Amino acid sequence: MASLEPLRFDGKVALITGAAGGLGLSHAREFAARGAKVILSDITPDVKSSASGIGDAAAFAVGSVTSRADCEAAVAVALEEFGRLDILVNNAGMLRDHTLEKQTDAEWQSVIDVHLTGTRNMTLAAWDALKASGAGRIINTSSASGLYGNFGQSNYCAAKMGIVGFTKACSQEGRRFGINVHCIAPIAHTPMTDDLWPDEMVKAATSPELVSPVVAYLSSEECQENSLILAAGGGYLARVAVVESAGVRLAAGEMLDAEWVAARFSSAAAMAQWAEPATVAYALDRAFGR
Ligand SMILES: NC(=O)c1ccc[n+]([C@@H]2O[C@H](COP(=O)([O-])OP(=O)(O)OC[C@H]3O[C@@H](n4cnc5c(N)ncnc54)[C@H](O)[C@@H]3O)[C@@H](O)[C@H]2O)c1
Repeated sequence: MASLEPLRFDGKVALITGAAGGLGLSHAREFAARGAKVILSDITPDVKSSASGIGDAAAFAVGSVTSRADCEAAVAVALEEFGRLDILVNNAGMLRDHTLEKQTDAEWQSVIDVHLTGTRNMTLAAWDALKASGAGRIINTSSASGLYGNFGQSNYCAAKMGIVGFTKACSQEGRRFGINVHCIAPIAHTPMTDDLWPDEMVKAATSPELVSPVVAYLSSEECQENSLILAAGGGYLARVAVVESAGVRLAAGEMLDAEWVAARFSSAAAMAQWAEPATVAYALDRAFGR
């Protein structure tokens, strides 16, 4: 069941971080093919030839998302070359995998810096331009590792789940400016996953081009949703949610001690009924008995 109207981005400008290759380059191509101007930003100078491959619709910026100045410079390229910025895709990333016991402080910090602080840095740099757009869109890049955990990736998992919280806070703050903020948890064969998946069939079936249309949809004005988490890869698409069980409440005259918790735990933890809270107000209402 295909969409009736093609989703177009004529007159829109999109900035994609980590766009020299992999998912980022695929996202940039997707936007350009749909009429957008694109700025490919990456720490590697190879991003210049990646942008050349797209043609006149593309500009590039070399810099690290860990640097506030580099992020501001990338946004400046968008404004100088194309006069505006409507869409930011925070995609840059790398891995420094080791179990908790073996992971060095540098491995922990560098992954937090690139994924989490980098997402914040670029969002902050782009915020005013996205406000001026009137229909700004930010697509952050989380991961199933962050959402569900993965052995040997405590740094990456912490950063990627941090991006979920960042996305939810920014979506609440951006709403009044017309800025919608989402995140994706992609699966794709890229330089990052090349060693992990030796199977050529699996590689072929999980091309980044099967993720980028999801980014395009979320970035479109047609998508009026906000604060979504979408899992996408290999032709699979699903919504991920942070949900809370219906819970239990202390009855009048009962005492909340550890024994009460033990007795009520299976009822409290049961997921037969659940809610997907939109804001922290849900948790406060529950605690205040409202
Ligand atoms: N490929 C997957 O299956 C998968 C799964 C879950 C999440 N992700 C996430 O998707 C994003 C893209 O990953 P990919 O698979 O395309 O990997 P990739 O290695 O092909 O691309 C990542 C890009 O980010 C760039 N980069 C790294 N550090 C940077 C920095 N400090 N500043 C700017 N650019 C920097 C790299 O040079 C590279 O071009 C990452 O955030 C990754 O964590 C990927």
